[in-house]
Amino acid sequence: MLIFSIETSCDETAVAVTRNGREVLADEICSQADMHALYGGVVPELASRNHIAVIGRLSDMALRKAGITKGDIDAVAVTYTPGLIGALLVGVNFAKGLALALGVPLIPVHHIRGHIAANYIAYPELEPPFLALIVSGGNSLIADVRGYTDIRIIGSSRDDAAGECFDKVARVLGLPYPGGRPLDELSRGGDDTAFRLPRARIEGAPYDMSFSGLKTAVVNIVHNAGQKGETLHLPSLAASFTSAVSDTLVPRTMMAARELGYNKIAIAGGVAANSRIRTDFIKAAAAEGKTLLIPPLSLCGDNGAMIGCQAYYEYLAGKSAGMDLNAYATMDVDDLYA
Ligand code: KG4
Repeated sequence: MLIFSIETSCDETAVAVTRNGREVLADEICSQADMHALYGGVVPELASRNHIAVIGRLSDMALRKAGITKGDIDAVAVTYTPGLIGALLVGVNFAKGLALALGVPLIPVHHIRGHIAANYIAYPELEPPFLALIVSGGNSLIADVRGYTDIRIIGSSRDDAAGECFDKVARVLGLPYPGGRPLDELSRGGDDTAFRLPRARIEGAPYDMSFSGLKTAVVNIVHNAGQKGETLHLPSLAASFTSAVSDTLVPRTMMAARELGYNKIAIAGGVAANSRIRTDFIKAAAAEGKTLLIPPLSLCGDNGAMIGCQAYYEYLAGKSAGMDLNAYATMDVDDLYA
């Protein structure tokens, strides 16, 4: 089954062609990051306008790359939640038009389910059940993946997402947006014990997380140093911060895997690209004899292939949408369009 998939939930316009949920024939991405970097964060209105400007040409490129024509497409899939509403609507309406014109099913895909599905592309043998950690710019979630479409969230951030925290801390350190990768690079020359930073725990909710206190602590260190005219060793501050994020993510995820009895742990989302967090996960998984699944960097961030992959399983489970499909800024991962 050939699925043409579209992802426009934030600042990447992404279009892919996938076969049977596992094989990627084309995966075209047009990132707007440079444009939003001017403003230090994503400007929703600009994101929507830019999706409109490029989605048609990007789709033609994907078809050419896959070596197919529109007539070969068996279904059209699209991210319909969560994300920036105007940005999502561009993809949803484009997908509706295409599905209607071709007379093929329209498959709505939850963005977080897509991030989990990136692992099916990276690991063709992988099948549920397994535990997944999704850490992106908008979400930090621990998910019990019982089946391809039976996914339960068992822990999440109570405030900022991990990626959002990386971006805000990077900004206060003077790094460009999106700050995760430059902060990762900066931290490599630093001492991760140089600054004492908080690791929040939530009473009675062992898998939940909180990053806003950590973010505020770093902001306060930078402002206090500025007021006193002191110079901070920024690589060490970046390394101490990253170590605090890793200490929040890794032990929780490992504990959840132990308690749920899972041997396979999949990591997904942009923050999964972080070198320190990857290293800590590799060590922790090796120490407990668990199999760690981390997609390559290209599949960690937003992409269309992961949406096409998940769409295949949604379709097999009987999910498809009509022309009344809407976009939603937020929706629980298990509260699906029916
Ligand atoms: O999954 P993603 O591409 O988009 C969302 O769905 O949000 O994640 C983007 C987030 C951004 O916050 C970015 O700063 C962060 O992932 N990120 C990183 C790294 N690369 C990207 N955070 C930490 N270390 C990295 N190497």
